[in-house]
Amino acid sequence: MRVDILLLTLLPLFANGASESLKDAGEKIYISMGCYGCHGVSGEGVNDFPRLAGRPAGYLAERLRELKMGSGHTPKKEMMVPYAKALDERQIAAVSAFLSSVGSHNPEELEVPEDILGGIN
Ligand code: HEC
Repeated sequence: MRVDILLLTLLPLFANGASESLKDAGEKIYISMGCYGCHGVSGEGVNDFPRLAGRPAGYLAERLRELKMGSGHTPKKEMMVPYAKALDERQIAAVSAFLSSVGSHNPEELEVPEDILGGIN
């Protein structure tokens, strides 16, 4: 793809604080396509499914393009390839922007201590 065409396609997305809506679009993709089913609701990673949250957007986009072409890092890549193939360049940009913006908390840190729950159970 020619770079100038790519830029023209992406430019409106980045204009005037639109990066917020790019992230919103990415979040919708992440939820509606069921990415969270393997990578976790916050992209925190589950067992063999890699963590995505907080990774640089450029890295995530590059990995998605590689997976789209069938090249992965693990024997489980076949599970991921169809999802990568389903994403177009715009969706890759959106979902990468969203995931890179997600905080690095892990679910254990969010657990509510017993004493605060006290009496509820
Ligand atoms: C059925 C389980 C599954 C689903 C659903 C899934 N993935 Fe994956 N994903 C994987 C596996 C397994 C890998 C590791 C692939 C490899 O071998 O490199 C992976 C890798 C990735 C990577 C590369 C991470 C890295 O550090 O190399 C990205 C980015 C990614 N997935 C994004 C997504 C997005 C976005 C969606 C939804 C559109 C999605 N995944 C849905 C299983 C899944």
